[in-house]
Amino acid sequence: MMRSAGRRFSYFVDMFAYPLRLSHYLELINPLWTRHALQARVVRVWDETKDSRSITLRPGRGWRSHRAGQYVRVGVPIGGMRHTRTYSISSAPESSDGCITITVKAITGGRVSHHLVRKLKRGAYLPIGEPQGEFVLPDAIPVHPLFITAGSGITPVMSILRNYVREYSVLPDITHIHYAPHAYDVIFGNELEQLSATQTHYRLHRIYTRELGESAKTRPHFSAEQLEQYCPDWREREVWACGPATLLDSLEQHWQAAGRSRQLHLERFRAKLADIPADVQGGRVRFVNSQVEFQSDGMTNLLRVAEDAGLNPPHGCRMGICHGCDCVLVSGSVRDLRTGALFSEAGEKVQVCVSAAVGDVEVEL
Ligand code: FES
Repeated sequence: MMRSAGRRFSYFVDMFAYPLRLSHYLELINPLWTRHALQARVVRVWDETKDSRSITLRPGRGWRSHRAGQYVRVGVPIGGMRHTRTYSISSAPESSDGCITITVKAITGGRVSHHLVRKLKRGAYLPIGEPQGEFVLPDAIPVHPLFITAGSGITPVMSILRNYVREYSVLPDITHIHYAPHAYDVIFGNELEQLSATQTHYRLHRIYTRELGESAKTRPHFSAEQLEQYCPDWREREVWACGPATLLDSLEQHWQAAGRSRQLHLERFRAKLADIPADVQGGRVRFVNSQVEFQSDGMTNLLRVAEDAGLNPPHGCRMGICHGCDCVLVSGSVRDLRTGALFSEAGEKVQVCVSAAVGDVEVEL
């Protein structure tokens, strides 16, 4: 009854506020009260390692809780432009204070990740999206998960582990292989250590890929021998793996060769791309709405081409998942960089973050 009265009041005020809505005025008082765009306030930041930081966010009205393993789209204003990235949520769902935590690693040349890790302050407001992603455990809990993670690929798995602890106190039979350059680079190192020491059924194997002080990787991320050594019953386990493309590609090959691809659940930071044909052709890209043209080499995705042309198109994951970059093809052809498939029907929607121009092309941007 109260809710419908509130809705009627809001509808009534919206009529007078047109073309804005009550929600736009509430945003001026407290950005967390808005309904037209979800926002979150930064309530805590702390360093996990020398180049990674956890950021606790208090989402505003309209947030629905995530499932352990999901990610969230985060808008990051830098120099008057809003950049959007997706980050796995590292906290367990439904925390008592209504907050969520993301954990970000500053990647080389990554302007947004550097900003979040080095410059973001408590009290800042960030636009966020709804939680998304399929990298979750089934509701019927698997008996023997194998987690394989590397670097910041630990973040969705940390959410899963924290959720297990909160829900059941005792972890089930889990084998976890985690790769990091050095011991001091392990994100959530102390917490993992403690879980390993106190949870009888949780077997953690940390593998370091560099000698102390070395800046380049000297050991590979994955080998069949390691797998046999640390998880001899891997064939019987469902696997959740998150990390760099080289690791995930190796796992994919290994599980495929064993005829067990269906047991493998991967979370990638970037889309897996198909080989580019040798005779690839670039062309002029015309962004119709912005009346901007730019040359494309036929290999670079149209989102990057638009950004190089000085535009700031809406986007989310930058890897073909969220459809936050969808735009209408006006003329010409584009290639889906993940599959190599060509699209040339005027009026169809294309994901510019994973599409490249094939000759001259026009898109509604
Ligand atoms: S940005 Fe997510 S699909 Fe393109």
